[in-house]
Amino acid sequence: MSLLSGKKILLGISGGIAAYKTPLLVRGLIKLGAEVKVVMTPAAKEFVTPLTLATVSKNEVYSTFTATDLDNPVWNDHVALGLWADVLLIAPATSNTLSAMAHGRCNNLLLAVYLSAKCPVFVAPAMDLDMYSHPSNQNNLKTLTSFKNKILPVGEGPLASGLEGKGRMLEPQEIITSLINFFTPKLPLKDKQVLITAGPTYEAIDPVRFIGNHASGKMGFALAEVAANLGASVILISGPTAEKINHPNVKLIRVVSADAMFEKVKEHFDSVAIAIAAAAVADFKPDKVKAQKIKKEKANLSLSLKPTEDILAYMGLHKKHQYLLGFALETDNELENAKGKLQRKNLDGIVLNSLQDKGAGFSVSTNKITFIHADHSIKSFPLQSKIECAQCIYEQILAL
Ligand code: CTP
Repeated sequence: MSLLSGKKILLGISGGIAAYKTPLLVRGLIKLGAEVKVVMTPAAKEFVTPLTLATVSKNEVYSTFTATDLDNPVWNDHVALGLWADVLLIAPATSNTLSAMAHGRCNNLLLAVYLSAKCPVFVAPAMDLDMYSHPSNQNNLKTLTSFKNKILPVGEGPLASGLEGKGRMLEPQEIITSLINFFTPKLPLKDKQVLITAGPTYEAIDPVRFIGNHASGKMGFALAEVAANLGASVILISGPTAEKINHPNVKLIRVVSADAMFEKVKEHFDSVAIAIAAAAVADFKPDKVKAQKIKKEKANLSLSLKPTEDILAYMGLHKKHQYLLGFALETDNELENAKGKLQRKNLDGIVLNSLQDKGAGFSVSTNKITFIHADHSIKSFPLQSKIECAQCIYEQILAL
């Protein structure tokens, strides 16, 4: 099951700096099953090459009214391209292109495609903040809205000019989410609650020191974001991490220790449909937390440790209707160890990542995962971003 399976998306790229992100956009759409063709304005080629886009889209890229084989010129049929598409997505849409679209100008192939397309049109504006807020651009956007074009919001942040503010093109993932929402009005996780544990836990030794680990929380946060985009209402219980999330569907509960994470999980577990344990919970905590800072008066120091509660095992023991997914981070004997955890903790699935794989594991933004179902059937994925891993994980869960 791919969320954009069989959807034909015609991507129109105009000449703004955000065009450098379009190969990622194309890649993301294709990963979800879409077919993508690209039309570029001549100015867009200054920012991203047709070769890159042809390679990632696995399709010819169009930018002129005729193909450049001079002996045998071919007309790039803008009408056929417009009719082929289920959606025309113009990203980035520069001030110039927006103005031309609003006023029926047709001096490049992209504008000709736009004027002849009958399919829904999505527009992702991108420009500097003062240009974006200028009444002329705001009027053009209103005109395009009156044509029933779907205008995506702009992002806020650093701009190519060095200024900061509103005007950035939405990130590829956000654009993809808008298309998923459009094609799948009944989102697969709508009305479902998903609980996710993320990040490390810190187990206090004294008021200053703790036992912790290198987990960054990136995988758990990516799982939360993707679930929210699929319509779920997400409870994300995270240990200390620098990761941030700002999504209306995500309730973030920050905790520090394994005990605190366990308390929050117990509070929410009964009401959720899916629970995913992505946290690297400390397996041991100091037997006693010293009330005062330990002084280095002795040459050696021994700490007495006791086990923390295994939160995932608790969920496995108490689950009723919930789908329960665990993670296994292994260094050796990976498959065997992961299958052992799947059984021991009464899981419905387990995601294995190996520290032996380059680019997988802690801190990095990529991961290489193997999904093991309860019946021990296995699906392995290549090294990809943690967001893409999260999408693959939900595809495995939803396929059941
Ligand atoms: N886990 C948990 N609570 C713990 C320890 C682990 O919820 N106290 C969860 C993790 O979030 C992960 C899974 O259990 O989903 C596997 O964790 P891992 O540390 O790899 O497994 P352990 O059972 O602790 O086994 P070991 O450390 O011996 O490999």
